[in-house]
Amino acid sequence: MMRLYIPHDAAAIAVGADEVVAQLELAATKHGVSIEIIRTGSRGLCWLEPMVELSTPQGRVSFGPVGMADVPSLFDAMSSNGPHKLRLGLADEIPWLKRQTRLTFARCGIVDPRSVEDYRAHSGYKGLERALSLTPAQILADVTSSGLRGRGGAGFPTGIKWKTVADAKADRKFIVCNADEGDSGTFADRMIMEGDPFVVIEGMTIAGITVGATKGYIYIRSEYPHAVIAMNAAIAAAKRAGLLGSRIGGSAHSFDLEVRVGAGAYVCGEETSLLESLEGRRGLVRAKPPLPAHKGLFGKPTVINNVLSFAAIPFILDNGAKAYADFGMGRSRGTMPIQLAGNIKHGGLFETAFGMTLGELVDDIGGGTFTGRPVRAVQVGGPLGAYFPRALFDTPFDYEAFAARDGLIGHGGIVVFDDTVDMAKQARFAMEFCAVESCGKCTPCRIGSTRGVETIDKIRNGERVAENLAVVEDLCNTMKFGSLCALGGFTPYPVMSALKHFKEDFGPAPTRLQAAE
Ligand SMILES: Cc1cc2nc3c(=O)[nH]c(=O)nc-3n(C[C@H](O)[C@H](O)[C@H](O)COP(=O)(O)O)c2cc1C
Ligand code: SF4
Repeated sequence: MMRLYIPHDAAAIAVGADEVVAQLELAATKHGVSIEIIRTGSRGLCWLEPMVELSTPQGRVSFGPVGMADVPSLFDAMSSNGPHKLRLGLADEIPWLKRQTRLTFARCGIVDPRSVEDYRAHSGYKGLERALSLTPAQILADVTSSGLRGRGGAGFPTGIKWKTVADAKADRKFIVCNADEGDSGTFADRMIMEGDPFVVIEGMTIAGITVGATKGYIYIRSEYPHAVIAMNAAIAAAKRAGLLGSRIGGSAHSFDLEVRVGAGAYVCGEETSLLESLEGRRGLVRAKPPLPAHKGLFGKPTVINNVLSFAAIPFILDNGAKAYADFGMGRSRGTMPIQLAGNIKHGGLFETAFGMTLGELVDDIGGGTFTGRPVRAVQVGGPLGAYFPRALFDTPFDYEAFAARDGLIGHGGIVVFDDTVDMAKQARFAMEFCAVESCGKCTPCRIGSTRGVETIDKIRNGERVAENLAVVEDLCNTMKFGSLCALGGFTPYPVMSALKHFKEDFGPAPTRLQAAE
């Protein structure tokens, strides 16, 4: 029998994975070969999708990217385990994968995301098992000493957040998973929810046990229908297996989960506005304090963490805090699932210990631009992240190192631009994005962003450039220091970094661009 593994990941489906599956099934019928196709998550080598893996005695052999026209010859090659132009060799030996340190994504692309048994066969639920043998204080000690910091953007220590909720006195507490993933160039939350949903469930369950919460919600953006299906299926499977619901795993603890789907606002990723949305209201940012850890969902103490933060927990509990903290640099411990996107040759998910330089990630791992032109700028950390020029490519991937250069790593997304980019246009886009996505609660963001668009337009039209540049700078300062949340407060980062590092683009008729065309 021929056993194949083909991703059911949204990115793989978008480039034809479902059609390839259908064609392979037809080919098998035609040749009278019995075939089993297991739909996995993606390994994260997006430029090689759809990737097909053949089970062999030596391990899984990969082929990709597989187009419909390749199927007949591929089927013949796989039947005889012979050569083929798309053959990439043993999956585990592919250098792009081998160079990674996959702690959070260890199972993604390997297991069947619908099977609790497969998850368990790959060390799944070992973290929960250990957590059930510990006291909440012992779990907190592990999470704290692992050095894990929130992967949603702010990098806040997860152990401290959990302890605050654990210490709070209340009749009910909640766990909320932030799967709104609105940052440009990011897709790690989606990938793990589609490829290894049980790791998110396990992490949230451990959080529930630790802080004394019996109910959790996963707030997923509506643009992720495949992730919604995968998470709902995994929740149902975990319930059937007695791993969600009352007396989980035969213990005295109860924990239940529900998926909620957002309605498509970037600001609903901001934790307090997400809570408003979960409660059925418009996504308006709440003033802090009170912190969600004290008064969160329905006014109760709430742990709200990013998908990747929860997904890192099972490894920490299973292997010990030290095993996680041994990776990384400075105060950035463990690994970061970095997402390479934009105009890049080898786009995808690369999980590695903190500390690799931006240049290594873009040039070496990413292979430079897709267009083959020189890299001119990269935006790290989503639409509120700074633009870095080549001169800053020696910056190590680390929260503090980026902050020291007026940047942020955010959710780990890197978007690459070649030398045809117009950075004044990008600065305008940052202001426009803020104007469109502003929740409207505070003036610096609501009005400042619109004035920002108008002023940058004037600069681009060559109107009183020096004066208008000063106005943009002034607006940025007002937004940075006067906004209620980071949407208005961080929009100055892309704007000011574009101005600082690419000043030559601000003015009428950028001659550099005409030369590049
Ligand atoms: C405008 C805005 C959008 C945000 N979007 C997200 C998001 O999509 N996903 C996320 O996890 N955090 C997002 N955050 C950060 C959250 O407010 C919060 O810090 C995070 O969910 C906490 O989880 P963590 O500690 O695990 O990172 C956003 C923040 C702001 C200001
Ligand atoms: S900064 Fe913008 S998004 Fe944040 S509260 Fe103010 S208006 Fe709302």
